[in-house]
Amino acid sequence: MSIKPLKVGLIGSGAISYTYLNTLTSGFAAVEVVGCSDLIPERSKARAELFGIRQMTTEEILADPEIELVVNTTQLWNHHHVTKAALEAGKHVYSEKAMDHTWEGAKENYELAKKKGLLLGAAPDCYMGSAWQTARKLVDDGYIGQPLIAYSMCMRGYSSHERGPLPEGFVLDPMMGARGTTITYDMGGYYINVLINLFGAVKRVSGYSQVFTGDREYYNTKNPNYGKKIPAEGGENVMLGALEFENGVYASLVLCSEAFSPEVPRVDIYGTEGHLSLPDPNYFGGWGNDVIILQRKGNGTESFKVPFTHGFSDTDPSIMPKSGKGEPCHNSWRGIAVVDMAYAIRRGRKPRSSAELALHTVEIIDAIDRSNEDNRVHTMISRPERPAPLKPGYYGSVNVMEASLDT
Ligand SMILES: NC(=O)c1ccc[n+]([C@@H]2O[C@H](COP(=O)([O-])OP(=O)(O)OC[C@H]3O[C@@H](n4cnc5c(N)ncnc54)[C@H](O)[C@@H]3O)[C@@H](O)[C@H]2O)c1
Repeated sequence: MSIKPLKVGLIGSGAISYTYLNTLTSGFAAVEVVGCSDLIPERSKARAELFGIRQMTTEEILADPEIELVVNTTQLWNHHHVTKAALEAGKHVYSEKAMDHTWEGAKENYELAKKKGLLLGAAPDCYMGSAWQTARKLVDDGYIGQPLIAYSMCMRGYSSHERGPLPEGFVLDPMMGARGTTITYDMGGYYINVLINLFGAVKRVSGYSQVFTGDREYYNTKNPNYGKKIPAEGGENVMLGALEFENGVYASLVLCSEAFSPEVPRVDIYGTEGHLSLPDPNYFGGWGNDVIILQRKGNGTESFKVPFTHGFSDTDPSIMPKSGKGEPCHNSWRGIAVVDMAYAIRRGRKPRSSAELALHTVEIIDAIDRSNEDNRVHTMISRPERPAPLKPGYYGSVNVMEASLDT
């Protein structure tokens, strides 16, 4: 069935805008990018020229009656006011993660979107990728029996990074961090959204978090700050959450940027009949050697490397990088939730990356912090529906994969 393309304007033409524009201009029938803006005009000019769209100001995007949806790829601390301005201008919004760096701010924009009858979604949308939709199918089809317990773990050692101080917007550096600008809000969403995709909403949350300000220094000799002390300030950078899902599954969420560790992303799901070892939730699937390993009860333990059942993988050859040089994640599908929102708007159905999901993700991080402060278990207020699965078996061209969203 044909579809009238949803006209999109992008605000914030920095690093990750490349990946979004690469996705959204790759031939989807449901979206048409009109233009992009940035406070630094050279940035929006470069993106506009590369992707054949208009260089605009933020004010022009908000005032353009043709633009129905704004993609907000500004830095985390700008998400709130840019999203609010776009909602007030009557635009649907899809924001980079997190939707906000406070529960209160997220709730305010959530209410505003509801009041105005507009869709509001937020990254990450990696859960819509091949690995995570395959995992979803395995769980839903009973391959691990009844899921009981899971862990989702992001270990990073920022002091060992080559980069630094990290570029503005790459909100990783404890030096930059007020509450909400460190690993918890920056990376938590990836590790939470994949669990919600598998199990649905979270019911109760408790946990611990701290701002580790121990004696740290940059110890990677390639880092320009090598040998310098990392200032003892910042937001939460060590967090352990206990999540109880409405379907009864328990999960532990570990987010830490201060240990000695090469990046160790892990998501494991244990069920009554089997165990799933899943790849890095920062990707859609297929990056590096990331695979899904399924271990099942058999004659002893049987172990399988599971082929992906769905399209939208990181290594899919049908999306070609426009610049051919080392742009971030050039083959990833960040932004397909925007295409999904276009279908939701045009077909009158619910979006997968809903405002409730975006709010829930922020509430979980916030609830862990609160639990740490008040020694209480928090009953979640937001209750998103589990995002609908994509249809399996749709590989190949952009439009073939797009059909798996058209439900
Ligand atoms: N860089 C990555 O690899 C990466 C990956 C995934 C997600 N993200 C997320 O994407 C978001 C942006 O990150 P980034 O790395 O692209 O940051 P960035 O600093 O490279 O880009 C952000 C841009 O937004 C612009 N901006 C800020 N306020 C604006 C406004 N009111 N109007 C117009 N432009 C405005 C800034 O000038 C800047 O160019 C963050 O939420 C980040 O967590 C980044």
